[in-house]
Parts: sequence; structure tokens; C-alpha cells
Amino acid sequence: MRDQAESLRRLVGEIRSPGPAAGGSQGPAPPGRGRVTRVLAITSGKGGVGKSNLCVNLAYALRQLGHRVLIFDADLGLANVDVLLGTTPRWHLGHLLRGERTLPELIYTAPEGVDLIAGGSGVAELADLSDPELHRFLDQLQALQGAYDFLLIDTGAGVGRGVLTFAVAADEVLLVTTPEPTALTDAYAVTKGILRRRPGARISLVVNQAQSRQEAEETGERFAAAVLRFLGAHVEVAGYIPFDPQVGRAVRRQVPLVLAAPDAPAARALRALAARVAGVGGGRGTPGVGLFFDRLRRFWRSLT
Ligand SMILES: Nc1ncnc2c1ncn2[C@@H]1O[C@H](COP(=O)(O)OP(=O)(O)OP(=O)(O)O)[C@@H](O)[C@H]1O
Ligand SMILES: [Mg+2]
Repeated sequence: MRDQAESLRRLVGEIRSPGPAAGGSQGPAPPGRGRVTRVLAITSGKGGVGKSNLCVNLAYALRQLGHRVLIFDADLGLANVDVLLGTTPRWHLGHLLRGERTLPELIYTAPEGVDLIAGGSGVAELADLSDPELHRFLDQLQALQGAYDFLLIDTGAGVGRGVLTFAVAADEVLLVTTPEPTALTDAYAVTKGILRRRPGARISLVVNQAQSRQEAEETGERFAAAVLRFLGAHVEVAGYIPFDPQVGRAVRRQVPLVLAAPDAPAARALRALAARVAGVGGGRGTPGVGLFFDRLRRFWRSLT
């Protein structure tokens, strides 16, 4: 406990002063004075709804707005952000957990200066990591605060411990769903799981693969109304992304859609989402990677 209190105090101090720069091929800018890294978890109930695509494209759209972005591919069993980027980072989380590499060596700078920590297929589920492994990782990740404006975490799907831990600890959850009833039901289960562990958690819904604006809006409104009625919480609708065949084409080319087809309807929607995410700023509560780690450790213990 004393160790944690101490590291928390240190963190609070570090938020206000530049810390060590870290970097891979290019590396992040030095932490800015007084800058806070906002931590967004991108999650879903049902798998395959479009989280990883959203994560990658949001990262690029935020980058185009001038923000410094780090993606952490936390879908450990099925990590594939690197595939979407057409990259093969040499090192991934497994190397760090085994103590073979340090975090700065792990950070891969993708084209356009978006940084990535690859999850690495074959790495155990987060839930299977031992406490020392998890803490070794968190300690190093923590040192990066202030070096980025956004830390985007692509979690796996569902209500497993690993997914929920990240979602519960993040400053904000971007909950991705499609308009399909199955996806919505699962999104509701995730919302319930997060709110139970953290009442007041900030959850924003993104309706992806909508056939029309009307379908998307109705989906968002119905979901928010159900959460308010049954869980007594507010979920904002952060964005709507249409079903767009160009997404699949970009995936096959392994180039983020916002770069491959900037005028595609889904790319426009993703840029609008990025502008909204960047625009709302800290909003409720105090964002920041320091608090994120505090919550991560706390919720990790409570879920054990
Ligand atoms: N707006 C969209 N329009 C059309 N296709 C889309 C859209 N968004 C995602 N897809 C397609 O949906 C599929 C799943 O996307 P993605 O891998 O991003 O989902 P995921 O939620 O990360 O999946 P998993 O749960 O397996 O990690 C991909 O084939 C992708 O091309
Ligand atoms: Mg994914």
C-alpha cells in the first residue's frame, strides 16, 4: 500500500514536470509541461463490431488534428492492430513481460507518427498475467505519461476480467456496437459491468456499420434510453459510422481508412468522431494516465 501511495505521489508530481522521453524508431515527443494523457478504452460486448478499425482510424484522425497518439493493442489473445497498420513490430508485449525488452524498445512508430504497443499473439490473456508481470508493464507504461495526448486502448470484446479492467480504469470508454440486437444486448451487458464496478464511469456509444443515419440515431437513442431507465446512468452517443465497403478494402490493403480513402463516408464519420473526442476534452472527472493507473491497479485487485 505504502509503495502505491508513494508511486501515486510521484506521479502527481510528474504530471506537472517533464519526464524521460521514450521512443522506438522515432518515439514520442518529450512529455509536455502540464500535459495530461487522456486514456480511452475502445471496447464492445460482441466481437467483430469494428473496434480495432475504429481504434486505428481514430488514432490517425487525432494525429491529423495534431495530437500525439499511442495505441496499446490490449486484445492480447487476438492482437491485430499491427496487421491493420500493415506493420510487423519486432517486439511486443510478450517480450516486455518476459523481461527481454523495455517499453521504449517496444514502442513502434507507424507511418505518420502514430505509436503502437503491439499486444503480440500468443501472449496470455491479461487475466492470466501474474501480478508481478502486470505491474512490471504498468510501471513502465506509467512513465510515458505526458508524452502523448491520447492513449487509445483496443480491448477485446466481452465482459471478461481483462477487458473490464481496462474499460473501468480508463478516463472514457468508447463502446462500439452495430445496430444488431445481439451487439446491442452485449453492449448493454458491458455497460452494466462497467457501471457496477465504477458508478459514474464515462461511457460513450459509437454506432458502427449503420445502414442509414436514421437507423444509427434510433439505435443510439434507444440504447441511451435503456441505460438511463434500467441502470440510471447517462451514456452519450459519440458518433455514428455508416456501413462502408471501403472499410473492408482498406483493411485488405492494410492501410487505415482515413489515409486510404479520406473521402469515404466512414472516413468522414471517423474524423468527425475524432474532432468530437478531442473537442470534449477532459469533461467530467480529471483525466490522466496517472489516475488511470491508480484505478487499473485498484480494479485489478477487486476483480481478482
Ligand atoms: N463501418 C464499417 N463498414 C463496413 N465494414 C466494417 C466497418 N467497420 C468494421 N468493418 C468490418 O468489420 C470487421 C471487423 O472489424 P474489426 O476487426 O475492427 O472488429 P473488432 O471489433 O476489433 O473485432 P474483434 O472483436 O475480433 O477484435 C472487419 O472485416 C471490418 O472490415
Ligand atoms: Mg479487434
